Amino acid sequence: MELDKADGDGRLGTSSVPPALEVSGISKSFTHRRRETQVLNQVSLTVEPQEFVSIVGPSGCGKSTLFHIIGGLTLPDTGTVRMNGIPVTGQRGKISYMPQQPALFPWRSTLDNVLLGGELQGAPQREAREAARHWLAKIGLGGFERAYPHMLSGGMQQRAAFLRAMLAPQELMLLDEPFSALDALTREQMQRWLLELWEENRRSVLFITHNIEEALLLSTRIYVFSGRPGSVLHTVEVPFPRPRREEIADSPEFLRMRRQLSEWMREEQAKSQS
Ligand SMILES: Nc1ncnc2c1ncn2[C@@H]1O[C@H](COP(=O)(O)OP(=O)(O)OP(=O)(O)O)[C@@H](O)[C@H]1O
Ligand SMILES: [Mg+2]
Repeated sequence: MELDKADGDGRLGTSSVPPALEVSGISKSFTHRRRETQVLNQVSLTVEPQEFVSIVGPSGCGKSTLFHIIGGLTLPDTGTVRMNGIPVTGQRGKISYMPQQPALFPWRSTLDNVLLGGELQGAPQREAREAARHWLAKIGLGGFERAYPHMLSGGMQQRAAFLRAMLAPQELMLLDEPFSALDALTREQMQRWLLELWEENRRSVLFITHNIEEALLLSTRIYVFSGRPGSVLHTVEVPFPRPRREEIADSPEFLRMRRQLSEWMREEQAKSQS
C-alpha cells in the first residue's frame, strides 16, 4: 500500500540519534482462571526524538497494556523497551503518562494535582505554579485551581490529567485516549491546543486514539493495530507539512487516508466480532 511512504516532515529518522522510544518484539499474555489470553503479539514500533506517533486499533487489542509495559508497570513475556538507546524494560519513572482513566489524587487540589509531575522530579516550585496557573486558564479551568477532583466534571478531570502529563519534565509522553471524555467542541479545542503547544515545544509523543481524524491531524506516523492479540498491521507515514491547521482535513489526500484507515479499522472490528 503506497500509504506506507516516507514523510516530508523533517524527521530525524535516518540520523545516528537513537529513537526516543524503541519497542521490539513485545508479546504479552494474561492468565485468568487458568485460561491464558494472548494480548500482544510481537509488537515493534519506534518514536523518534520530537516525533508525534499514534496508535489506532480495536478495543481490547492491548493498547493500554502496551503503555503499561512501556511505563514499567507490567513486564512483557518477550521483547524489550529502549529509550534513547538504553534498555529500560520494567523501569518506572522514565515517562510522562496520562492513563485512560484520569487518575487525579482526591486529596489534592486541581493545581496541586497538575504540579505533581514536576514536584516528583524536584522542579522549582514558583515557576511551576505560575506555568500551571497559566495553562489551567488556557484549558478552561481558570478559577478551579483550588477545587478538588470530585468537584470537577469528567471532562474537566480529563483536562487536568492531560495538563499534568504535559507539564511533567520527562521527554517522552504517553497519552492514552486523552480526549475521550470530552464533548466534540472541547475535543477540537484541545486538539488545536495540543497541536500548537507541541509544534512550539516538541516532545516525543506516543498517543492512543480511536479517532482517525485526530490521529491524522496530529501525527507524523500512525501504527494501525490488529484485533487481539494486538500486532502492528500497517504503518502509515502522515505527509502533511507543519505547522498544521484543521484546514488540512478538507484536502483530498487527508480524505483518502481517512477512508483507508477507516476501512482497515472496520475490517479489524468485524474480525474481532466474528
Ligand atoms: N491485568 C490484567 N489481567 C488480566 N487481563 C488483562 C489485564 N490487563 C488487561 N487485560 C486484558 O487484556 C486485553 C487488552 O486490554 P487493554 O486495556 O490493553 O486494551 P485496549 O486496546 O487498551 O482497549 P480499549 O481501546 O478498550 O481501551 C483485554 O482483554 C483485557 O481484559
Ligand atoms: Mg485502552
